[in-house]
Amino acid sequence: MITRRGFLKFVGGSFLSLASLSAYAVGIEPMLLTHVKRYQLTPPHWPAGLKLRAVVLSDIHACHPWMTPERIASLAAEANALKPDVIPMLGDYPAGTRIVTGWVDASEWAPALSGLKAPLGVWSILGNHDWWEDRTAQRVGAGPTISRKALETVGIPVLENDVVRLEKDGHGFWLAGLADQLALLPGRAWGRSHVKGLDDLDGTLAKVSDQAPIILLAHEPDIFPKVPGRVSLTLSGHTHGGQVRLFGYSPVVPSRFGNRFAYGHVVENDRNLIVSGGLGFSIAPVRFGMRPEILQIDLGST
Ligand SMILES: [Fe+2]
Repeated sequence: MITRRGFLKFVGGSFLSLASLSAYAVGIEPMLLTHVKRYQLTPPHWPAGLKLRAVVLSDIHACHPWMTPERIASLAAEANALKPDVIPMLGDYPAGTRIVTGWVDASEWAPALSGLKAPLGVWSILGNHDWWEDRTAQRVGAGPTISRKALETVGIPVLENDVVRLEKDGHGFWLAGLADQLALLPGRAWGRSHVKGLDDLDGTLAKVSDQAPIILLAHEPDIFPKVPGRVSLTLSGHTHGGQVRLFGYSPVVPSRFGNRFAYGHVVENDRNLIVSGGLGFSIAPVRFGMRPEILQIDLGST
């Protein structure tokens, strides 16, 4: 029989463990346990002799108290310390939740990112929140978004259905950046009944003018089934790995494909996708089993 004392101890204990679990998921994991997630691969169409290190930041979601300009600047320093050849950023710079103690304006988060340095440059794409938090862009149905202007102001180019050819050790390669697949929200005021993407995969890849390998940057991984084998590697964010991930399974994933592209390295039909778990969060300030991460991807060294 359960005594009253036993019951109260049980309730008290449960409350305490729940409280410490919450403190962990809200305070410790999202803020203090950032780590570097390393991948090493030589994808198809990758030339022998091209060793490339890409350090990737995704889903920063600037806000107080979790992702302040100071923290963003220190993440930039951490990324630089990995000695990247190139730094792609995968979108979603502003806060993705209303549960914040304060906003971090684009005029604050962009300068914090301006410390990123790599010999082949820092390149960015935009995510859904870069569009969704910009009411003017929603109304007009076009950019340039606040995020795009802020990134360009600090000298970080934004690839929206655009490509750039880079070179290392005499080998060329392409970075192709897709415009956001969920850019325009539905709304009667805006005359839209469905979410409208601005992505143009075919048009983007048509700008690639030689046989050098392609790295595609696409905020949402849902484009992956349409990506042709010509692309060596697709890099995505957006899912945050579900933010809560247990035993390799994420209960909630913002993707039509559920867990298929929720997180990590996915190989399908000899095509490669890496989905970053990202750095910030959206909807609720929680991370559990999915620490904030900076990607270090070494290509051609295996
Ligand atoms: Fe996103």
